[in-house]
Parts: sequence; C-alpha cells; structure tokens
Amino acid sequence: MDFVWQISAWVEAFHIISVMFWMAGMYYLPRLFVYHAEAIEGGREHRVFEKMEANLLRIIMNPAMIAAWTFGLLLFTRPGFALGAGFWLWTKLALVVILSGYHGFLAVERKKFLSGVAPHSSRFYRMINEIPPVLTVFIVILAVVKPF
Ligand code: HEM
Repeated sequence: MDFVWQISAWVEAFHIISVMFWMAGMYYLPRLFVYHAEAIEGGREHRVFEKMEANLLRIIMNPAMIAAWTFGLLLFTRPGFALGAGFWLWTKLALVVILSGYHGFLAVERKKFLSGVAPHSSRFYRMINEIPPVLTVFIVILAVVKPF
C-alpha cells in the first residue's frame, strides 16, 4: 500500500508540474496576441510574433496540456478514488474541460493570424487574457480545499 501511495505522490507531483507549464503558456499566449494585434493595427512589423506563438504552442503548451491530462487521469483512475470523491471533482473537471476548449480556441486564433490580419482586436485579447487566471483560482481551490 505504501508503494501505491508513493507512486501516486509522484504522479501528483508531475501533474502539478505540467499544469504549471501549461498555465504559463495559457497566460502568455493571449498577451502575445495583444502585442501582435497592436503591431498589425499600428502597421508595424509583426511577422516575428508568428514564430513566437507557434513555438510557445508546439514546445510548451501542447505537450504540457497532454501531460497534465495524462497525469490527472492517472490520479482519477486510482482504485476507489472517483466514486468516493465529492462534487468538487466533477466541477473541477468541468472547469478543466472549459480551459482545454480555451486552449483549442487560442490554437485556432494563432493559425488565423498567419493571414496577416488580426482575427480580433488587441482589446479583445486583453479581455480574454483574464479567463485562465480566474479559472485557475477556482480549480486550485476545488482540488485542494474540496469545499463540497
Ligand atoms: C487536465 C485535466 C486534469 C485532470 C484530469 C485532473 C485531475 C486531478 C486529480 C484526480 C487529482 C487528485 C486529487 C486528490 O487526490 O484529491 C488532481 C490533483 C490536483 N490538481 Fe488536477 N486535474 C486536471 C487539471 C488540473 C489543472 C488545470 C489544475 C490547476 C490549474 C489542477 C490542479 C491540481 C492540484 C493543485 C492538485 C493537488 C490537489 C491536492 O491533492 O492537494 N489540475 N487533479
């Protein structure tokens, strides 16, 4: 039993590490979109952002999201865990699904930027930039405090 507990602790450590990498990218990519859209709006050089955005998604965000899901689902499938867990778990998973949808939205936006026209205004990206931090606050409280 000690062995199972130790493995699960390692999986949880790597779950949190991958979530941190994933969130770092989720906070930064819309900020890059703000600068990218501003450069296009101001008629300035903007091609450099295309490479930065592509690399951020390919090297950091996509692998980190896959790792966060993999380690999270491993924790989820521990014997007896999901059935014994409260409503907090299902609420957390729902918020994580929304977060993953937001990730997909950002990936589609990045591709649209390649046409040289900003798909949305810099103000729009400034506003949606608030979504991941707000979701993070709720997800971490649900996972750690387990209020219901
Ligand atoms: C990607 C899909 C995810 C799945 C399937 C998932 C699932 C899980 C599961 C089953 C646990 C174990 C909970 C326990 O043993 O009580 C856990 C722990 C945790 N998760 Fe996630 N999670 C995901 C994403 C996230 C995200 C996006 C965050 C933060 C923004 C997060 C933050 C945490 C934290 C802080 C813990 C440690 C809780 C504790 O034991 O104190 N998770 N996760």
